[in-house]
Amino acid sequence: MSELSGRDVISIVDFSRSELDLIMEEAEKLKGKRTDDLKGKIMATAFFEPSTRTRLSFQTAMLRLGGSVIGFSSEEGTSIEKGESFSDTIRMLDNYSDIIVVRHRLEGAAKLAAELADAPVINAGDGSKNHPTQTMLDLFTIKETFGHIDGLNVGVLGDLRFGRAASSFILGVSKYNVKLFLISPPELKARRDVIAYLKDNNIKFSEVERLEDVISELDVIYVTRVQKERFADPAEYEKVRGSYRITARMLASARKEAIVMHPLPRVDEIDISVDSTPHAAYFRQAANGVPVRMALLKLILGG
Ligand code: NCD
Repeated sequence: MSELSGRDVISIVDFSRSELDLIMEEAEKLKGKRTDDLKGKIMATAFFEPSTRTRLSFQTAMLRLGGSVIGFSSEEGTSIEKGESFSDTIRMLDNYSDIIVVRHRLEGAAKLAAELADAPVINAGDGSKNHPTQTMLDLFTIKETFGHIDGLNVGVLGDLRFGRAASSFILGVSKYNVKLFLISPPELKARRDVIAYLKDNNIKFSEVERLEDVISELDVIYVTRVQKERFADPAEYEKVRGSYRITARMLASARKEAIVMHPLPRVDEIDISVDSTPHAAYFRQAANGVPVRMALLKLILGG
């Protein structure tokens, strides 16, 4: 049995480096494979918020391990529309499946689901802070590219305030010996609790406003979308909309081997001119969602 057997996956901070290494090693072995490891097992996807990559790569991962999938991709069409609670919905899925993958707009939803369900629960993104499996595939992509994570200069650009992929990535990558650059307009600076975590753990980081000022130092440029749906005030969104945009021209001053990452979806923060440069890593990053989620499902449910 793996040390991750039966584990809930709520936040990246709950995972040790050796556990992350185990997941990444397993993902490397499973990449491109089809197995029968989870034959007879059922995964439920409870997605209360939109998703393309996360939900479909979880489904693909389960199918490639020989398992089956049930679930919903929005509240529409479920009894939530009749007024059923989140808790009752999760209790039902717990009866029908061996593992539950939850996405929700509210922070803490996955933790609550894990308390309610006997089956392991995986957080597929809740609120503005946690998206642990996204971070696992991000780390895997970096390791696959450079052969290591320690020693790299990592810039995280964009909506560090509301972006859960960004916050989770900052927390996860800081388990490695990296130099962090948090790059954002003042309105979108990293959350106070994320900054406190970095300080408490003696992580080297600096906060800057413009990518241009640090681009030549970076090995990894992790770009994120302004999280329009999380602004309470549309005028506040309008103020920061389009405030940063990375283009192929800007990358002329980047290191030759630097990679541009993005959890996707992108809106306009990475110009399509970047796609055809050797720096663009975001599509293979998204593809890595499958082997990494296969590894996680296998380590939690297998054996
Ligand atoms: C992200 C999310 O939902 O947090 N998408 C993803 O899972 N790849 C990022 C985003 O929506 O900007």
